Amino acid sequence: MTITIIGSGRVGASVALNCALRELDDILLLDIVKGLPQGEALDINNQLSERGIDCKVSGSNNYEDMKGSDFVVVVAGVGRKPGMTRMDLLKTNADIIKDVSGKVKSYAADAISVMVTNPLDPLTYLLLKVTGAAKNRVMGMGGMLDLSRFKYFIHNATKVSNDSIQAMVISEHGENMLPLIRYSTLSGIPLNKFVTEQQVSEIFENTKGVAAQVIALKGATTHAPGNAVATMIESVIKNKRSIIPVSTLLEGEYGAENVCIGVPAIIGSQGVEKIIELPLDNFEQAMFSKGVDSVKEALSTLTL
Ligand code: 2OP
Repeated sequence: MTITIIGSGRVGASVALNCALRELDDILLLDIVKGLPQGEALDINNQLSERGIDCKVSGSNNYEDMKGSDFVVVVAGVGRKPGMTRMDLLKTNADIIKDVSGKVKSYAADAISVMVTNPLDPLTYLLLKVTGAAKNRVMGMGGMLDLSRFKYFIHNATKVSNDSIQAMVISEHGENMLPLIRYSTLSGIPLNKFVTEQQVSEIFENTKGVAAQVIALKGATTHAPGNAVATMIESVIKNKRSIIPVSTLLEGEYGAENVCIGVPAIIGSQGVEKIIELPLDNFEQAMFSKGVDSVKEALSTLTL
């Protein structure tokens, strides 16, 4: 089995390291930049050897090497710069992802693919359409990352162990991200028993804004995205059937059609095995619909 990661910059390297540390599979890092994937692979292998981990990490500039991969993680494209929204990357990254998706179709049509490049939701849809893969085999990593941030701010506000926090974030991985306060608990006890209204609104806003803060401070988000991808792939490889928010094609669920956006789903050996529909209140539904509209507007500008 092989996990191919297309794009070997800081996020791609973090995905490789996180997957390798969990001993998920052998890993191929691909990039058009000569030397970059090979250098990252060498560096990671040097860490793995000391830790007694036998996953093999390799680097290549040749797409053909991904032939027959079981997983493809798409991280290619440019990242956000300070002051940009994720959607500002649409035009540049859509062209890159169209090209990359064609390669996925040619060399690894049977793989389960994970989109990471922004804007995440429109590009998940693009990957799905260009590869022609079954909808359960293409998912976008956005919600899992947003969830890790949501948990961080819940932990900061409550000082309760991260272990006890369960939470959910749905909708667009972007301006209309929706941390679901009502569906978040500390060991089954509703979050709002532990926090004030003021804290709720701070947790909500901080979850949505923290990526921009990290980008302003260090230029890119890397560690949290790498971990989020590894969690998704682990659930598939081990058939854990974890409930994870992923960007997936909706066909009527949540009242939306023909759009990829973040919703909770059971992730197992078949990829997205079941979308879980949660009843939303008026505020949540309005926010979710804004996310759907935003992704659909982006899709309307793309030639598929
Ligand atoms: C993130 O949320 C930039 O979408 C990327 O870290």
